[in-house]
Amino acid sequence: MHSLIIRKHYDNGFEYIEIKNNQAEAKIALQGAHLFHYKAIDKPALLWLSKLAYFEKGKAIRGGVPICFPWFGKHKNNASLAQHGFARTQMWEVVIEEEIDVDNTHIRLELKPNADTLAQWPYLFEAHLDMIIGATLSMALHVTNKDTKPFVISTALHTYFAVEDIHTVLIKGLENCLYFDALKAETFMQHKDVQIQEEVDRVYSNPSKTITLLQNDTSVQLQEEGSSSLVVWNPWIEKSQAMVDMPDDGYKRMVCLETSNARDDARIVKVNESHVLKATISQCNKKMMTN
Ligand code: BG6
Repeated sequence: MHSLIIRKHYDNGFEYIEIKNNQAEAKIALQGAHLFHYKAIDKPALLWLSKLAYFEKGKAIRGGVPICFPWFGKHKNNASLAQHGFARTQMWEVVIEEEIDVDNTHIRLELKPNADTLAQWPYLFEAHLDMIIGATLSMALHVTNKDTKPFVISTALHTYFAVEDIHTVLIKGLENCLYFDALKAETFMQHKDVQIQEEVDRVYSNPSKTITLLQNDTSVQLQEEGSSSLVVWNPWIEKSQAMVDMPDDGYKRMVCLETSNARDDARIVKVNESHVLKATISQCNKKMMTN
């Protein structure tokens, strides 16, 4: 089969692209350049997507891979601006949709400044997200400074990984890293592999270049480039209940491992220079790992 790249929309006009090739299928919303479904052949769906997610103009989708840009988390000086920046609620333009080969499809979406972005962040920039949909998923966010002065960006590929049962998940590659615990506003050392037994909202510094998410039968490998920070987030019980777009027990089936430039890892981008934040994700089962 050759790649299929189909433009679709929901009844309310919310637009997305559906991709199918010999190795995988995916769905990407034009709003936010938001990948909200990815499944490799013979593998479980990689991404968690809330059953209550909004697919509506101006609302971020709960699940998949929201793009946080140009700031991660709350805006430093203006609490009225949206958490995680404007990228996830802006319309991006599809500028490349091509079949690399029968196994891999390349999609590029681009975001340029407009009156709304300039009112929130007064810089000229060009941002594009390259996604390769194949047996491996890769996502690379390129941000170029088109202004006459440097700017600082804090970004994330806020990836919601689907898990069978959060209680059995092990995250490897963060041992001996310092992390900022956003719930306690303190920094701690991670001594062992990470297990999630409670609400977690942490920014890890200098993680291994490969992070492994281990579950009963499968493992997911996340490789990062252009990043020295990884956010680990699970809202646990009360926050899941409080979020209108998340089922009460949603926390059991997801964990966010966010390839990021968060907190101290924010990047200065000089005039005419670019920064690239990249995540490459592959899945295998445990038998394959031990062979
Ligand atoms: C995480 C943050 O990246 O995103 C959390 O560390 C935040 O503090 C979470 O709650 C979800 O954010 P939002 O804006 O999508 O509800």
